[in-house]
Amino acid sequence: MLEAIGDPKGLRTLDVGCGEGRFVRRLAARGAQVVGIDPVRSLLEAAHGRGGTLVRGVGEVLPFQSDAFELVVCYLALIDIADYRSALAEQARVLKPGGRLVIANLSGMASSGTWQRDAARRNRTFTMDRYLEERWEQARWAGIDVMNWHRPLSAYLEALLALGLVLRRFVEPPTPNQIAVDPTLAEDARVPWFVVMEWVKPCPTAS
Ligand SMILES: C[S@@+](CC[C@H](N)C(=O)[O-])C[C@H]1O[C@@H](n2cnc3c(N)ncnc32)[C@H](O)[C@@H]1O
Repeated sequence: MLEAIGDPKGLRTLDVGCGEGRFVRRLAARGAQVVGIDPVRSLLEAAHGRGGTLVRGVGEVLPFQSDAFELVVCYLALIDIADYRSALAEQARVLKPGGRLVIANLSGMASSGTWQRDAARRNRTFTMDRYLEERWEQARWAGIDVMNWHRPLSAYLEALLALGLVLRRFVEPPTPNQIAVDPTLAEDARVPWFVVMEWVKPCPTAS
């Protein structure tokens, strides 16, 4: 995510679904003017006073003016959001023309699959099922109950394209360069766990 974002210094930035603020802090430490929003009070309390501005709310109805941010990030939060189309529309709305939306998401291949393990519990093969079928399961994360949504990649891509956003970068980490720096990441390269996407809100063209 940091690679995709580049230098955020001075950028008015919104982190949607910021949780306990780990990424708010990392961006604030790099000089961004960051606001984090999350619906869970206990997570915001944990984030409080450690960097950035924190707001309680949901991604589907953002309490910010249109065009208010130069950078919007959504770090592993879309999988928690039931109405992801409204959340993406809100992210596009609050983004200033020319601004960027950087999303990290669990890949649909990962969320519809599971490892088959041998008797020694080593990962052997990864099997997927019902990839195209949107569904959710109850999960626990940071001490709270969450709905984890599985959706095929096309669900997100279609919603983002319908908003008129332009895809500028698409990465499935770990990249070969990252593995060269840290060879322990090679095991994570066996399955496409994550996608990182950089989208741009186009500037209106003069008529
Ligand atoms: C897997 S956590 C990721 C948190 C954080 N972005 C991080 O990377 O540490 C997903 C977050 O989405 C938040 N969330 C759940 N429903 C949401 C909604 N409707 N709008 C915005 N955030 C939501 C959860 O409270 C949680 O903090």
